Amino acid sequence: MSLFITFEGGEGSGKSAQSKILYKRLSNLVIPAVLTYEPGGTPLGKKLGRWLKWTDDKNITPLVELLLFNAARAQSVTEVIRPGLKKGKVVISDRYADSTTVYQGYGRGLDMETIKATNDAATQGQKPDLTVLLDIPTEVGLTRKKGSRRDRFEQEELAFHHRVREGYLKLAAGEPERWLVVDTTQDKETVAGIIWRRVSQLLGRESD
Ligand code: TMP
Repeated sequence: MSLFITFEGGEGSGKSAQSKILYKRLSNLVIPAVLTYEPGGTPLGKKLGRWLKWTDDKNITPLVELLLFNAARAQSVTEVIRPGLKKGKVVISDRYADSTTVYQGYGRGLDMETIKATNDAATQGQKPDLTVLLDIPTEVGLTRKKGSRRDRFEQEELAFHHRVREGYLKLAAGEPERWLVVDTTQDKETVAGIIWRRVSQLLGRESD
C-alpha cells in the first residue's frame, strides 16, 4: 500500500533520526519503503542543497532560495517520490514543501502566494498523506546543534527560528488531519512509538 509520509521540524528536532527509525521499522516488517530527504535526495538536490546551506554569497535573495529548493524538490518528486509510490511503497521524505512555506515564508518573509504557486509547480500534485512535525522549543533545538559547524540557516538569528517554529504550528493547526505534532523533548523511543502508532493505523496494521 503506497503512503507518502513527510517529516518536518526546526533545527535540532531529530527529524533525521526519527525518519530513519521509521524506515528501519518498516524494513524489519518487510514493508517496502523508500527513505529520502530534501534538499539532497537526488544528485541535483545534493549539489543545490550543499550550495544553499554553505555558500558565502551574501546576495542570495529569498526568491532564489524558493526557486532552488523547489528545483531540488521537482527532481525528487520525479526521480524518487513518484516512482516509489507507483510501486506501492511507503515513501518517507525528511523535509518537503512545508519546509519552504515555513523557512522562506514565515522565516524570510516571502509572500505566501508566490510560495504556494512555486511549491505547487514543484510537487506536481504529490501531497503527503501524513506529515509528522517534531516540535521542540527553539532554544532547546538550537542547543542540541551546538558544537557542529553552523550552516546559513542555523546561523540565522533566534527570531528567525522562532518564526519557523510558529509557522509550523500554524500550518499543523490549519490542517490537523494531515499533521501529527509530536513533542520531541520526550525520549527517542517514546517519540518513535507515537509516530509508529499513527503510521500503523494508516497501514491498517495496528497489531504490529
Ligand atoms: P537539514 O539538513 O538540517 O534539514 O538542512 C536543510 C536546511 O535547509 C534547514 O535549515 C532548512 C532549510 N530549508 C529551507 O530553508 N527550505 C526548504 O525548502 C528546505 C527543504 C530546507
